[in-house]
Amino acid sequence: MPKKEFTRRQVLLTGAASAAAVALPGIGFAINQENLRKMEPKLVRVPDANDIAKAIAGTAKVGIQAKTHEEHLKLWQGYANKTNEIRKALAELDTDPAKANQIYSQMRALKVNYAFAYGGYINHNVYFETLGGGGGPATGDVATLINETYGSFEKWAADWKATGIAGRGWAYLGYDQEEQRVWSYMGDSQDTFPAWNNTLLLAMDVYEHAYYLDFQTARAKYIDAYMQVIDWNAVNARLKKARG
Ligand SMILES: [Fe+2]
Repeated sequence: MPKKEFTRRQVLLTGAASAAAVALPGIGFAINQENLRKMEPKLVRVPDANDIAKAIAGTAKVGIQAKTHEEHLKLWQGYANKTNEIRKALAELDTDPAKANQIYSQMRALKVNYAFAYGGYINHNVYFETLGGGGGPATGDVATLINETYGSFEKWAADWKATGIAGRGWAYLGYDQEEQRVWSYMGDSQDTFPAWNNTLLLAMDVYEHAYYLDFQTARAKYIDAYMQVIDWNAVNARLKKARG
């Protein structure tokens, strides 16, 4: 009789199912162990050279060179790849609650780092989507919302620049779905999100990898350059989508 071969996934799922039979009855409903096998991870698209083409074409005039974006793309791809890797790992993870632990456990490691990976992916999606435009004062409905919150574009711009200098990683312009207005937030890391119920309209990367090749440690000069090449049409498109 031939020996039966099991894939790693089958072994993990078998382990999860048998553990669940012991651990999960406490949650108050009957467990169909087959349902523990059904999670299929949806994967994000990994960005490529096409995704930085607009930035390369649009930022040379302000001193941000192609090499900066080409190196940046590698980091962006890393966030996408790690997002996918963690999604796959979570789909296969033994979810026995007895094995979860707040000091260290696979569940903790995956969930904490998932927020960092997916956060970094989204942050860079928006950074490159809204970079490489004509800059200048905001246009369209975004301009209206900026004026409603900040009184003038100049006030918003001063607040934005100061936010970018005070932050350790990001400045974010969010559209608050509850209050239906915009607000500039600060992000110290890939996973420090502004607040719930905000849709990200504009994201300015202020990690040194975004500007060191061009401006060394002079972040203020980078921000001045960046603000000349914001693509407000892309920001308005994101706002339109956010409002539905
Ligand atoms: Fe970055």
